[in-house]
Amino acid sequence: MLNEKYWNKREQGEEIHELSAQEALAEAIENDLLVEARQIIGQGKEAFVCWGKDKFGRSVAIKSYKLYRTTHRGVIHGTHRTSPYEVIKHFAKLEFYKNLYAYKAGLPVPLPYKWAGYSYSMELIGSEEGPAPLLSDMNKNSFDDPTEILEKCVDILHDMFQAQFVHGDFSEHNLLWHNEEMYVIDFLQSKRFALKDAVHRNSPLIPLTRAYRILRKDLNAILPYFSRLFRVTVNYEEVLEYILGDIKEKVDKELELISEVT
Ligand SMILES: Nc1ncnc2c1ncn2[C@@H]1O[C@H](COP(=O)(O)OP(=O)(O)OP(=O)(O)O)[C@@H](O)[C@H]1O
Ligand SMILES: [Mg+2]
Repeated sequence: MLNEKYWNKREQGEEIHELSAQEALAEAIENDLLVEARQIIGQGKEAFVCWGKDKFGRSVAIKSYKLYRTTHRGVIHGTHRTSPYEVIKHFAKLEFYKNLYAYKAGLPVPLPYKWAGYSYSMELIGSEEGPAPLLSDMNKNSFDDPTEILEKCVDILHDMFQAQFVHGDFSEHNLLWHNEEMYVIDFLQSKRFALKDAVHRNSPLIPLTRAYRILRKDLNAILPYFSRLFRVTVNYEEVLEYILGDIKEKVDKELELISEVT
């Protein structure tokens, strides 16, 4: 409906309109994602997150996309000619399925429930009182043994990589601490990858060495955080090797081929 409005407005030369949080939540309620909104818990550039209850009485987190204004709109395959409303609808759907893939792979992520319009709903990581804290909300006295917490993060990176999935924004801002466990959120930028570099042009999988670069970037974000805040330091290369597991051989082979060509 809004999409149609957009085209009409565009024809009349009117400005496109960004949904307010209230409008987005009203739309999510209309689409049956929740029945009661309690509180906005995250307000970013691209999306906001609210927690509430759905019709089954479950505590849910709703992630709702805002209008996409940046110029890299064209990177979203096939969407560059559609309206901004179509782009954010696509984001909600895309993140829902990426989240679902991670959940099905047995990774510690929220269970996604439903997508509709510009939003998707998922299990709230937290309790009746509200969402769990982010790792970035913790301080150096929060954990008895911060090394154990770092090990949990490294294990998640390992399990993700073995599931042929890279997060792409793995940091203290996207990790939630709940019931003595770490949970990962925020999947729009995450990618599934192939076990080789040669992938078909239309493949949903990215090449292996690209995934390897993303993994190294993720590791480079989380390890310094632990050394800065908790004074826990580890050997980067050893941790990387552990995360790569048996896939390391394949990565090395592809890297060798690249160096032969160049
Ligand atoms: N399933 C969830 N359970 C509990 N809290 C959640 C959940 N999903 C998101 N949040 C909260 O909402 C915030 C924003 O979520 P997310 O990281 O997915 O969005 P974002 O686009 O990165 O927004 P921001 O720029 O605010 O980080 C998180 O930092 C977290 O506090
Ligand atoms: Mg985030």
